[in-house]
Amino acid sequence: MKIHVLFSAAYCDELNFSGKNTIVIDVLRATTVIATALSNGAREIIPVGSIDFAMKISGNSSDRQTLLCGERNTKMIDGFNLGNSPFEYSKEIVEGKSIVLYTSNGTKSVVKAKYSDNLFTAAFVNLSSVVEAVKDYEEIQILCSGSSGPFCIEDTVCAGNIISELSKIKNQPELTDAGLASLLLYERHENNILAMLKNSEHGKLLIENGFGKDIEFCSQVNLFQVAPKLSNGVLKNISQIVND
Ligand code: MLT
Repeated sequence: MKIHVLFSAAYCDELNFSGKNTIVIDVLRATTVIATALSNGAREIIPVGSIDFAMKISGNSSDRQTLLCGERNTKMIDGFNLGNSPFEYSKEIVEGKSIVLYTSNGTKSVVKAKYSDNLFTAAFVNLSSVVEAVKDYEEIQILCSGSSGPFCIEDTVCAGNIISELSKIKNQPELTDAGLASLLLYERHENNILAMLKNSEHGKLLIENGFGKDIEFCSQVNLFQVAPKLSNGVLKNISQIVND
């Protein structure tokens, strides 16, 4: 198995994803929210790249089967049903619902990578399930969403954690330099993921904006058994796709 890591979606062209197996990461907080919502019974997540498009495809949502969700500058957008805190995506609120999700970096990265042959989303909360889903591919690339910039530590450490887990299953996967750097960064932080998240730039912003509890939530490893996979433009747990 060969593994590459892209440190930010900013420098990627969407055509480069065609034919690839991609894992998109946005630990704080989009891919954590996606795992939480699907785990709590959401029917599907529709990731979108702009607020306008989110509003258009959610229609007037009067049937209450569709929820318009996401954030701008970490906060809920006016007129939306939910923001981007995993605590908002409880079973009572999301079960059976279609979630139209717009976030500043995470859902944009999913949209950018949409031409991948296989696209999964991962965070610490669902890491093992995604590792299990991709373990038989010959080549994988991990796309870190970044935080409005070229690099963010939390997505890269999570990428390193995925590589570490895959290394236990696949004897010595071939790593690009970016893959090796991610693994080394993970090994430096593996015993205190929460502290790493709190010290990250985006972590500090979330704390400043009153979302400190979200960081604790996002630091939990393997809380959920869910592997969100993109199929026909929507993210569903891989077992839902097989059953559809
Ligand atoms: C993003 O996509 O940049 C994030 O999920 C932002 C956040 O809600 O913290």
